[in-house]
Amino acid sequence: MSEPSSSLTDSLLDWYDAHARALPWRVLPHERVAGVRPDPYHVWLSEIMAQQTTLKAVIPYYERFLQLWPSVFDLAQASQDEINAAWAGLGYYRRAANLKKCAQKVVSDYQGQFPASASALKALPGIGDYTSAAIAAICFEAPVAVVDGNVERVFARLYCLEKPPSAMKNDVKEKVEAHVSAQRAGDFAQGLMDLGATICTPKNPACALCPIHGHCQAFKKGVVAQYPIAKPRKAQPLRKGIVYVIRRNGDGAVLLRKRPDKGLLAGLSEFPSSHWSAQQNDMMMAPPVACAWEMGGTVSHVFTHFKLTLEVRQAWVDADILAPQGMWWALPEELSGQGLPGLMQKVWEEAW
Ligand code: ADE
Repeated sequence: MSEPSSSLTDSLLDWYDAHARALPWRVLPHERVAGVRPDPYHVWLSEIMAQQTTLKAVIPYYERFLQLWPSVFDLAQASQDEINAAWAGLGYYRRAANLKKCAQKVVSDYQGQFPASASALKALPGIGDYTSAAIAAICFEAPVAVVDGNVERVFARLYCLEKPPSAMKNDVKEKVEAHVSAQRAGDFAQGLMDLGATICTPKNPACALCPIHGHCQAFKKGVVAQYPIAKPRKAQPLRKGIVYVIRRNGDGAVLLRKRPDKGLLAGLSEFPSSHWSAQQNDMMMAPPVACAWEMGGTVSHVFTHFKLTLEVRQAWVDADILAPQGMWWALPEELSGQGLPGLMQKVWEEAW
């Protein structure tokens, strides 16, 4: 195969000019040429939301956040409970807590203007290597390497990198830095991520359509499917628990409590439950109210460090039962505003 006639950078940017995905926070190449600049508040919000999920899933959350809090000043003043409720379902709830802290710091230390350098951005709460580089490149054209999972996969294939994704970040960073466009750092970063998301996909990549396949070592050797090399899988520890869905006769209200302010799903609302534990006898905690339990189904959920199965127990109780200390009754139509995490939404769907 002959060497490609255009540089990887130029080919990628030409492709991005024609195929950039339209996203609510994105300034497309033709708009950029006309002088439009991305709003760092919008880009920051979208990048925090997009970690661990797809952009398609992010869009409705993003639009809701902007309706509720059009500027970083508004978000800095929002209550954490309101932010949690708007975040519910996106997962990794520490990010929702850091959103408010970060917004407050941007207001108090930077008069509401996000700083332009990756290093200053990285000093803000909840902003790490990836997000700082993404905002600096996209909003301020900083020529930095923006490396997410999509970009890792693209470069693992371009260079047949023989390390699993968890070990190759620095190698990829170095290689991306060597190709970054000095004039269009933001478009280069977004182009690589779009390429990874739409063409250089984990399964069945569309190599024939790839604008940089002429630079791709794995493509030349016909071994694209072998990269990135798989990381040996560690068995996920299992935990179990019992969750109680208790409803009040009359208005159908359901009993909720708040999780502790630190740790997993911190500060979010939940149905009362036993400990979530690998030891079966930890599930023997007394239920929050004494009543005749009906067995519901089970709900499973995968957290970063363990897999959880909750057995659902359900009961209707007398209308005059008071909520135990630290708990409250919530009407079913109020549940969407209570900041229930995805796991608890699954429990609600499973009960009755
Ligand atoms: N995934 C996360 N952030 C992205 C971005 N800015 N462009 C494309 N894909 C992304």
